[in-house]
Amino acid sequence: IKHIGVFTSGGDSPGMNAALYAIVKAAEVNDIKVSGFRKGYEGLIDNDVVPLKSHELQKFVHQGGTVLKTARSKRFMELDGRKKAFQTLRINKIDALIAIGGDGTFKGLLAFSEICDIPFINIPGTIDNDISGTDFTLGFDSAVNTAIENIDKIRDTAESHNRVFIVEVMGRDSGYIAIHSGLMVGADAILIPESGKDLMYLLDKVKNYDSEDAFLVVVSEGDEIGAELVSSKIKEVNPNVDLRITKLGHVQRGGNPSALDRMLGIRLGVATVKTLLREKENVMVGILNNQLHLTPFKDVVKQHQVNDELYELLELFGN
Ligand code: F6P
Repeated sequence: IKHIGVFTSGGDSPGMNAALYAIVKAAEVNDIKVSGFRKGYEGLIDNDVVPLKSHELQKFVHQGGTVLKTARSKRFMELDGRKKAFQTLRINKIDALIAIGGDGTFKGLLAFSEICDIPFINIPGTIDNDISGTDFTLGFDSAVNTAIENIDKIRDTAESHNRVFIVEVMGRDSGYIAIHSGLMVGADAILIPESGKDLMYLLDKVKNYDSEDAFLVVVSEGDEIGAELVSSKIKEVNPNVDLRITKLGHVQRGGNPSALDRMLGIRLGVATVKTLLREKENVMVGILNNQLHLTPFKDVVKQHQVNDELYELLELFGN
């Protein structure tokens, strides 16, 4: 392998810059050139390419977001877009491609592999932690830390006013951010999309809520859940509550990556290059039980399941 292409795609997540730095550093020591495609798959389609050097990336290790920019590309979903991307790889003589992104990025790679035969490697980069084959996705830990920091602040005002506060966190259809942040702030209720019965417990509890204290609900965003729905249900059972909603939103995606995410970015970044030098298979690199773990593309799934231990914690603290 002489020339690697790399891009970040989908929602940005803290730690992506650390991973980019590590990829380029590991490639350089093996005399491999690295080119970065800007704005995710869009850059591949438009041949928007920049040479990457580790000494230039080094100073961004601590920074959130992605210096390569990112996008959710509609054009790449079409075969025509993928053919253009393939042309770009040929023009630039790229002989391996590394993607950093979540579930959507991964699906894009799978579709691309039908027309493009160079090896692909994926680093699971998303705050949602919803991908199998790794204990944690890149950015999850930082997002949870941001959520906690902000919910702690909300608790101060909630306690002062004896208010019911519903804090909505991100995660798309995954409740990992909600469970983790909810447990760590001592929430009175934690609602996640994976579990249907939470709302019942919450309503029972809030029915008798006497306004002598704060009542903190952490809820994951999601089509069948979300802050507004929870709020209207609470008001049905207890119309007198003084209730406020805070949606943490995109603040969870930004900010300096945590120590864990910087380390994860560095470990996974180096692992991509090492893996490419060893084998030519399409794999996702992850860390399972603190060991590097490779998952062949065919075995990567969007992880909806919350494991039994976490469910037990949810039952104990969040219901
Ligand atoms: O996948 C990461 C994520 O932040 C989800 O938690 C959220 O639902 C979504 O992206 C928001 O996407 P966008 O930034 O495109 O609005």
